[in-house]
Amino acid sequence: MTTTPTRPAEVRSTFHSILEGGLDFDALPMRLFVQGNQKFWDPSQIDFSEDAEHWKLLDEDQKEGIASLAVQFLIGEEAVTEDIQPFMRAMAMEGRLEDEMYLTQFAFEEAKHVEVFRRWFNAVGVKEDLHYLLEEIDGGRDEDNFTNIFTQVQPEAMNRLWTDNSPEAQIRANVVYNQFVEGTLALTGYWAWSTILESLGGLFPGMQELVRMISRDERRHLAWGTYNIRRHVAEDDAMWEVAKADLDDMMALMTRRHEIEMADTSPEAEEQRQRGRELGVGPERAWEYQVDRLQRRYGAIESARGAGAEQIEHGLDEDEEGDEHGYASLT
Ligand SMILES: [Fe+2]
Ligand SMILES: [Fe+2]
Repeated sequence: MTTTPTRPAEVRSTFHSILEGGLDFDALPMRLFVQGNQKFWDPSQIDFSEDAEHWKLLDEDQKEGIASLAVQFLIGEEAVTEDIQPFMRAMAMEGRLEDEMYLTQFAFEEAKHVEVFRRWFNAVGVKEDLHYLLEEIDGGRDEDNFTNIFTQVQPEAMNRLWTDNSPEAQIRANVVYNQFVEGTLALTGYWAWSTILESLGGLFPGMQELVRMISRDERRHLAWGTYNIRRHVAEDDAMWEVAKADLDDMMALMTRRHEIEMADTSPEAEEQRQRGRELGVGPERAWEYQVDRLQRRYGAIESARGAGAEQIEHGLDEDEEGDEHGYASLT
């Protein structure tokens, strides 16, 4: 009796790695994979002992300000660790072993980012429940706030990939996760963070090292994201409009949040903005940086229109990595 598999994708009939030619080591995902292995780093080896000493010198307000920033990174890293998994699944469904291999490393690196931030909190002795900081960051709003991106916008876009690996679903996931969260929000956050630490005269050397290590990884993550989305746009020109509409959504979301924050004219809000300006990361500068990063994502994707498959698979230089020196400047 012959049985017809009802879930063909669950059944393996051939092995990609022993097909003629095996793995395509020249394709971007494999180049990123090899690079990532060569640049391996271990979060447990970063020395936070000086950070713990610096922490003791801060007053309560300063401690809360720093913890609020760090907590945004930590929850973001946790959310991206979990939410990348369906993308790996989507690549498996397409039979793209090289992408799948790279994404195992990608997920592993996100998990290390969670580990390293948690180790930092532990090293400076902050172990209480920190959800109250998120409520403060969100200013009591349920929508258009920071946390919402990770509790709703990103998981919705990513989890669709469990059942739908169409180009449209991949583009949505990619725009939210790779282009917006990694390529715009996190990049702006890491830029602000390293600017602040520099302004404060070398405060928290362990944290500075952590930002450098994470930026090296994120540069490859963004390169993969850009490669994935460029592939869909090159294959079908109609996909550019899909990507553009999704990018416009992210621009609108970002703008709403910025406008709400700037509309707060309370003395506390103004004082906080002024503190930011003194550290080189005032809201005007940060907004300009953020908009510039998102606008670069449009350009990086649109330039794939009409490109050949060969150019997409093998063309992007590792030095460019689709990042245009965003994360590269932080490493
Ligand atoms: Fe990360
Ligand atoms: Fe990442």
